[in-house]
Amino acid sequence: MTSPSKVMTTRMNIAIDGPAGAGKSTVARHVARELGYVYIDTGAMYRAVSLHMIRTGIQPDQVEEAVAEMQRLHLELLPGSERQTVLLNKEDVTETIRTPEISQFASLFAQLEPIRIKLVHMQRQMAEQKGIVMDGRDIGTHVLPDAEFKWFLTASVEERARRRYVEYMDKENVTLEQLMHDIEQRDRQDETREISPLRLADDAILLDTSSMSIDEVVNVIVQRAILRKDGEQ
Ligand code: CDP
Repeated sequence: MTSPSKVMTTRMNIAIDGPAGAGKSTVARHVARELGYVYIDTGAMYRAVSLHMIRTGIQPDQVEEAVAEMQRLHLELLPGSERQTVLLNKEDVTETIRTPEISQFASLFAQLEPIRIKLVHMQRQMAEQKGIVMDGRDIGTHVLPDAEFKWFLTASVEERARRRYVEYMDKENVTLEQLMHDIEQRDRQDETREISPLRLADDAILLDTSSMSIDEVVNVIVQRAILRKDGEQ
């Protein structure tokens, strides 16, 4: 990994987009730590909103009810060096939102424009002071189109499902086949939705991480960020 002496002084925003299981969250968290930046996981925001909707009995097709419920929902992200804490109406839901069920609901509620508008507004505010590594689906294309550095991480469906399987193994009763099916379905939903679909920004760097370790991906991004800051590329 990069030595702390290489930490940059000129702060920029780094956008990391890509499909489920491409390694975005882990990579983004490590990159932020290496650079002394703040990591913001926007997927966690869509997950927390979905958890709230499920708890209040609102389905993704109940658009009016969902929009009204957004008024009663208070979301806070507390960045930390190890992980980001997610508070939903003051309750710590950081772990609760990491289930296959919430993944699917998040992808459906994320299709609703009023929900996106509210969350994107929060995301842009958080990025105002620069020095942010933000991951999601629409960061480079829509949330932070002026981000200085944009990455699009991907990997084969098989590899992404395998990574999720390892992540869920101890806490969820789910098969690799089920996860592959869920990921393909979510890819489809996220890529074909009308508002801010998942796609590669024109100025993003595409990185297939199928056969790369987390450390390798982190190193590539950190080194390129340092070069860019030094004006060497
Ligand atoms: O971690 P994983 O890639 O499985 O998902 P996530 O980043 O936590 O995002 C969950 C869902 O939220 C995604 O499937 C998207 O539908 C939605 N999302 C989005 O629409 N826009 C974002 N910036 C982040 C997530």
